Amino acid sequence: MNAGNEAVGTGAGADGAGCFSGFSAGDFPSGARLFTGKVRDVLDLGDRLIITVTDRISAFDRVLACIPRKGEILSRVSLRWFSQTSDIVPNHVLEPLSARTTVVRKAKIIPLEVVVRGYLTGSAWRDYSAGRAVSGVRLPAGMRKNEVFPLPLITPSTKEAAGHDEPVSEEEIVRRSIASPRVWEDVRECALALFRRGKEIAASRGLILVDTKYEFGLLPDGSLVLADEIHTPDSSRYWYAEGYERLFASGSEQRQLDKEFFRAWLIEKGYMGEGEPPAIPDSVREEVSRRYIEAYEAIMGEKFVSNSLSFEAERKIVLVYIGQSAAGKP
Ligand SMILES: Nc1ncnc2c1ncn2[C@@H]1O[C@H](COP(=O)(O)OP(=O)(O)OP(=O)(O)O)[C@@H](O)[C@H]1O
Ligand SMILES: [Mg+2]
Repeated sequence: MNAGNEAVGTGAGADGAGCFSGFSAGDFPSGARLFTGKVRDVLDLGDRLIITVTDRISAFDRVLACIPRKGEILSRVSLRWFSQTSDIVPNHVLEPLSARTTVVRKAKIIPLEVVVRGYLTGSAWRDYSAGRAVSGVRLPAGMRKNEVFPLPLITPSTKEAAGHDEPVSEEEIVRRSIASPRVWEDVRECALALFRRGKEIAASRGLILVDTKYEFGLLPDGSLVLADEIHTPDSSRYWYAEGYERLFASGSEQRQLDKEFFRAWLIEKGYMGEGEPPAIPDSVREEVSRRYIEAYEAIMGEKFVSNSLSFEAERKIVLVYIGQSAAGKP
């Protein structure tokens, strides 16, 4: 987990724009174990975690702003997908406490970002067009940007405690004992089945699930669970299906749902992860928020009605759960 939320002022909780930038240690009884990821706040209760998805947004591996409604959107989209895929692989969800907070089973995370790609785009396209293998896979010559793969491709990378994640081949995963051959075989099969399901459901909403990333973990009994998040706009790239062929044929960019807007804005301001990031005006944060809502509505096929709690109400729900769990109730 990277601690990286210094840029948005932690502890402020909710700001004037109704943004939830996260908890701080002082919000909970001493002894509570709070970890802050870039996006999630995680309270460790031993065999369980309370995960609160904040409104923090990261780009180039740094937290740069707080986006109203983002955490709630990510959490609700994930919960829906977890339930739509629980027949494929058990997931970590135990009990939602609010729109952004969920109690999950604590797993030993396999330190891999299990990326599945249906199309040659993004970093895979950058590698391919520079003549490089894509996570150890040599692709056939003559492919074009945004072309569909005959079969989805798994291109894992390692989850690094600090710095950037590194692409890793399937052979290396086993050779470096990142996962045993049996576990990796399981992970690969689950990831492909999840992606297949994701594609089907996305297609029924007029979307293409282009690529995504999964995190898996092992429970104390050694069984595999899907953890973290699934098929959210942060972990996935979606395109609108309508117009794909036409845009592909003419070599144009696809219409997409993800957070490229924010990255593109940063790049336009000359920021690519080095040096001091630019101040993010409220108008940009609102625009990014609007795009998250648009993504929610497209993915979920329903209007977004916010169900976010105030900072205090959110904290109280968590405190009550911690109290009950200390008393051995749930
Ligand atoms: N069920 C689980 N058991 C244990 N850890 C989990 C579980 N679900 C998610 N996590 C971990 O909780 C953290 C969530 O925080 P967040 O997504 O903000 O992290 P991050 O800054 O993106 O860091 P990372 O690079 O590790 O994902 C991640 O480290 C993720 O691996
Ligand atoms: Mg993460």
